[in-house]
This record gives sequence, C-alpha cells and structure tokens, in this order.
Amino acid sequence: MNLSITHSDRPIGARVANVRLPDLDEDAFRRILDLVNERSVVTIEGQDLSEQQQIDFARRFGELQKIFLKDALSSRYPELFVVSNILENGKPIGSTDAGVYWHTDGAYLPKPHSVSMLYAIEVPEKDGKAVGDTLFAAMGAAYDALPQATREQVDRLRGVHSLHYRYATKADAAQDMAELTRQFPPVSHPLAIRHPATGRKCLYLSEGYTTRIEGLPEDEGEALLKALCEHVVRPEFQYRHRWAPGDLLIWDNRATLHRATFDYALPQRRLMRRATVSGEAFG
Ligand code: SIN
Repeated sequence: MNLSITHSDRPIGARVANVRLPDLDEDAFRRILDLVNERSVVTIEGQDLSEQQQIDFARRFGELQKIFLKDALSSRYPELFVVSNILENGKPIGSTDAGVYWHTDGAYLPKPHSVSMLYAIEVPEKDGKAVGDTLFAAMGAAYDALPQATREQVDRLRGVHSLHYRYATKADAAQDMAELTRQFPPVSHPLAIRHPATGRKCLYLSEGYTTRIEGLPEDEGEALLKALCEHVVRPEFQYRHRWAPGDLLIWDNRATLHRATFDYALPQRRLMRRATVSGEAFG
C-alpha cells in the first residue's frame, strides 16, 4: 500500500493520505504505528468509518478502554466516547467539554491510556474556516529543553494525578464524587517517563490531572509544578490540529498533552468519537 506521509514543521505531527483504514495491510499498519511513535500525533485524512470500522482499526493498537463518563459513550459501542456539542431532545449526545484543560488521557489510572484516536464526523466552521482545533504539546521536546539541573531533579520525582481534582468542579458531572474517588483513587507516576516504545524521556504532568509532587515541601512542589505546567505548553512545543470531516487523529498519550479549543457554539455543530487504548504502568 502506497501511503503518502508528510511531517509537520513542529516537533510533533504528521499526516497520512492515500489510505483506506479498513483495507490496511499489516505492513502499512506497522508504518503507521512507527509514525505514531516517531511523530506522536498523526492525522489519517479522508476516512469514512463506521463505528465498527473505527473500533476494528483501534484494536490493532491494543485492548480498548471504556471511559468512565457513561452518558457520553456510544449506545451501541461503549468503547467509543462521543465528543460533541449536539443536543437531542434537549440532552447532550456526548461530552460537551472534553479536554477543557491541558491533559493526557487516563493519567488518573495506574496504567494510563497509551494511544487515543479521535474521528471527526462534523466540524464547526466560522467564515468558511474550520474552528474547534485541538492543541498538542510535545513532552519529549519539553523535557530536552529543561536546564540540566531541573532534568536531574524531575528524574528523581513523582507526580500525583487525580481525576477527582478537576471533575469535582464540573457543573455537569453526573456521578457522585465520593463514588468517583473510590473508583479512581489518586495515583503517582514519574514526572519524567521513559517512552515504552522509543525509550525517549518525556515529561508526564498536566494542569488537568496533576495535583502535587511527591516528596517535596508543599510550597516548593507547587512552585515546581506550576513552572513545569507553564514550560510544557510553550509555543515552540505546540502543534495545532485544524480538523476536516473524515480526519482520524491518533495521538500518543505518553509523549503529548492535548487540549480542545472552544471557539464555537451551536448552531455550529461538532461531532467526534474517540477510541482509547489501554497502556502500561510507568514504574
Ligand atoms: C479530548 O480531550 O479527547 C477531546 C479533544 C477535542 O475535542 O478537541
């Protein structure tokens, strides 16, 4: 299969054209997997995927996770998380505010998600241009750019991540918070992880889920976390994805953060569905 691959001019990001995912042979799949490991965010453009076809492709990366936000799961395929601002009978058909904060999927789990895949069905437009872009931050480049003393410091430290931390403030959180905290107690991960496929060191923290740094006095930990959260989203580490219907965007949660932009509102409609792959503990 003759894949057409182009790299972005950012530290992360690539596009693949000339491919129909349901027909992908093993060799072409391996090339896409290698590209995800190398470029961290990969757009496969021009797809027309049923829910089943999206799941079949995502399963080639590993076991799929069902997200805890039950009201936002596809009714026929609970492995698919619906991200949308569309209302039916006055009720949202999916998650209306996924990705408000910079975050990496599943950081609140002992084994965080490895890869996520968001497929665009409807993309909002303003003045003929797509809006509702998704932003990414390159966590390998962000680690490399730290002063050596800070790298040595983060290499020794762990961050605590909690789902409850952000979701406790969400007006539309349907679940009982005590139950959510019981289901997902805070977990700790190294502040700098070694990417399981590439061996590259990547920072692992986010404003969305990281609540504190273990083993430092509170004020020192808070100051370091704030400085790191600001550092990782510096413009030179960012990649911006402008959506087109039919894009399947694959991102590596071990090497990136992401955040949605909310520069649109109904009647501008946005409809996407996400499959998420289980990962491994970082040690
Ligand atoms: C997400 O955080 O998974 C959603 C990102 C987006 O909707 O742009």
